[in-house]
Amino acid sequence: MRCYTLSAAALIFSGPAFAQVKSKRYCDGATGICYAGVTNNNVLFGIAIPDVKTAPFDTVLQITSPSYNGWVGFSWGGTMPYVPLTVGWVNKNANTTIYSSRMAFGLSLPQPYADAEYTYLKGTGFNSTHWVLTVRCRGCSQWENTEGVLTSLDLTKESLTFAHGLATKAPAQPANNRSTFNVHSSFGHWSVDLSHGKNANFDKLVDANLVDHLPPPVTSTPSPTPTTTQSTTPTSIPVPTNTGIPSSCAGVSNFHSPVLTANGWKAVKVAGDLTQPRGLAFDSVGHLLVVQNGFGITAHTIGPDGCLTTSKTVIEKRNLNHAIVVSKDGKTLYASSATQAYAWDYDAATASVGSTPRIVVSGMDNKGHVTRSLAISPNHADLLIVSHGSNDNFDYDSANIKTGRSCIKAFNLTTTPTDGYNYARGGHQLGYGLRNGVGLAFDGNGMLWEVENSSDEIHRTINGTTTDIHMDNPAEELNYIGDPSLPNTQWYGYPTCYTVWSPSLITDTTFAVGDQFVLSPNATFADAMCASRSANAKLAFQAHSAPLDAIFVPTSNANSTSESLLVAFHGSWNRVPSTGYKIVEVPFTKGKDGEYVPSKLGAQQEGDTGSGYTDVLWNQDEGKCSTTVCFRPVAFLKDDWGRLYVSSDSGGGGEMLMLGRV
Ligand SMILES: *[C@@H]1O[C@H](CO)[C@@H](O)[C@H](O)[C@H]1NC(C)=O
Ligand SMILES: *[C@@H]1O[C@H](CO)[C@@H](O)[C@H](O)[C@H]1NC(C)=O
Ligand SMILES: *[C@@H]1O[C@H](CO)[C@@H](O)[C@H](O)[C@H]1NC(C)=O
Ligand SMILES: *[C@@H]1O[C@H](CO)[C@@H](O)[C@H](O)[C@H]1NC(C)=O
Ligand SMILES: *[C@@H]1O[C@H](CO)[C@@H](O)[C@H](O)[C@H]1NC(C)=O
Ligand SMILES: *[C@@H]1O[C@H](CO)[C@@H](O)[C@H](O)[C@H]1NC(C)=O
Ligand SMILES: *[C@@H]1O[C@H](CO)[C@@H](O)[C@H](O)[C@H]1NC(C)=O
Ligand SMILES: *[C@@H]1O[C@H](CO)[C@@H](O)[C@H](O)[C@H]1NC(C)=O
Repeated sequence: MRCYTLSAAALIFSGPAFAQVKSKRYCDGATGICYAGVTNNNVLFGIAIPDVKTAPFDTVLQITSPSYNGWVGFSWGGTMPYVPLTVGWVNKNANTTIYSSRMAFGLSLPQPYADAEYTYLKGTGFNSTHWVLTVRCRGCSQWENTEGVLTSLDLTKESLTFAHGLATKAPAQPANNRSTFNVHSSFGHWSVDLSHGKNANFDKLVDANLVDHLPPPVTSTPSPTPTTTQSTTPTSIPVPTNTGIPSSCAGVSNFHSPVLTANGWKAVKVAGDLTQPRGLAFDSVGHLLVVQNGFGITAHTIGPDGCLTTSKTVIEKRNLNHAIVVSKDGKTLYASSATQAYAWDYDAATASVGSTPRIVVSGMDNKGHVTRSLAISPNHADLLIVSHGSNDNFDYDSANIKTGRSCIKAFNLTTTPTDGYNYARGGHQLGYGLRNGVGLAFDGNGMLWEVENSSDEIHRTINGTTTDIHMDNPAEELNYIGDPSLPNTQWYGYPTCYTVWSPSLITDTTFAVGDQFVLSPNATFADAMCASRSANAKLAFQAHSAPLDAIFVPTSNANSTSESLLVAFHGSWNRVPSTGYKIVEVPFTKGKDGEYVPSKLGAQQEGDTGSGYTDVLWNQDEGKCSTTVCFRPVAFLKDDWGRLYVSSDSGGGGEMLMLGRV
């Protein structure tokens, strides 16, 4: 999950399209600087470095692109997340080409990156057929990886991998170097022999060619920066007194794109301009804690009407990318990076943490889906539940339970080893074959449910004939995991058994919505074997909805004992027109045995989503939603009055809303 479900960005730099390209030295007549040059997608990338052996060192990047490219991005680390990215595009108003310094914290829209400093060099500009960006970068030869560990361009290696992504669509605000832009339409990884780009007299050459008059000052509205300004933390914070949904919050701008709600529901925007807000939690005195992916964790006080008032930074740590949970006693704050789950001593009164976190879980993967959802079981305050997605679209190794990917595990916090649990070896299993169960929810009995984002670009192969069935398959899933204190070693199907959403796209066999199938049935594994080997989803959702969170809520008011499940659909790039970007409600029924089951279990029909779940909140023009446009629901947080705070990490504005019944 995650990512430019972020989208195709997901594919950015993470796909199989690895081409071995040999770099060639070329020298630029205008400046005399020589580059290690590689041409990809008709774009010439040139990298020039001084004659040194170790980082840090200055670099010069030259991008020469055909005019038709709206933007071209270059990755200094050869992957998309957690490496400096240099993005270039034409700013026609100013008659020049500009750079934008970025870093992505997941497969999502790269954020402005302040740890690299750029200066333009001669030759930057455009003509009728091409545009050229030539910049010196200070801070592109070294950066902090997913774990905050310093990583360098290693000049002792014969070849280094770089990557690019590009799109013909121009950024939303070409005059603004903090502009949003859409996911790349093409990308590649390639290797370069950096010795081809060495310049003996580098500093002299660069100094002689620097231009400081480019570009004119940026005048357009800057986009989101983390809210780090106010830091007044009252010792006791007010609690809401009005338990309804206010009609507006003072000082909060309108939604970036219009949001609509079903009858009986109301939504109001409570915050904007956050940096990719993801996970949410309350602390024991009522601060609302937000993970701002790429920045860290902030704490917000809540006014009497439920709107946010002051805010302060709790932790600055940009690899915290999604999850956050506060221990039942309120004294420990848990958050995670791709590879580790951390615990901080936490003081709720001042919304502050002890300086050094402890590592609770380590050894998780840093590829593919990089968020690690965390939850504390409501009936077992000592159990930390950690969900780990796949490391690729098809993560075949995860079919082995021992791999510790595409699964959920529980770790007993009373017996945490001093250096933390190893994810794959420690804890107990809560199912596997769960592709990317980002959303975890506990029903009224404390039983665990999971919502899961399934694969992209799937095909069905029968007797050697392959058919593209990806537009409306496979279904996303709602799975029942059960009592989190008991080991569950059931296999839920991934990467072999998928769930049908559109039977009509699979013409070789008659399926119903919710049936399981394999992509390429053979003598040893037929569709029918899924039913006996793999736990079937309890409910199927529209393909490519990309569910990211789920929460049980009372069906009428906060005192109601009946519950339904709300699910946050983040939306995906892998369907045209796009789908998702909304919140849906799954009705549940409590059986005679006291167990919760989806009311419409098995009653869903293709094209009739209303039978299994209904829309609660959506964007006005869902079919036009993308990574930069629309509210993209990520995470839920419920207050004591049954109202929900919902984050959106869309490039469109770092928003948070409050949703409730009226
Ligand atoms: C869903 O999975 C697809 C394919 O891996 C990926 O591109 C996308 O980022 C994922 N989205 C979420 C929300 O998990
Ligand atoms: C842009 O540059 C061209 C070529 O140097 C020049 O003719 C033109 O006047 C410039 N336009 C602006 C708006 O500066
Ligand atoms: C935008 O440009 C300004 C200077 O013009 C620079 O200070 C800033 O770092 C740039 N921001 C990005 C995201 O590139
Ligand atoms: C435009 O710029 C490109 C890249 O520098 C160059 O190869 C090309 O010859 C130029 N075309 C014209 C018409 O000047
Ligand atoms: C966690 O470990 C403690 C100490 O061994 C034990 O008492 C407790 O029952 C365990 N919790 C669960 C949920 O198994
Ligand atoms: C695939 O081949 C098998 C064996 O020849 C045959 O029984 C089956 O009908 C074929 N399936 C389809 C969908 O053509
Ligand atoms: C048959 O299909 C299963 C499930 O997709 C796969 O794991 C297995 O490798 C396949 N066997 C052969 C011989 O292709
Ligand atoms: C919920 O129950 C409490 C305690 O009985 C009562 O004070 C409150 O008014 C009830 N709330 C609603 C919305 O019915």
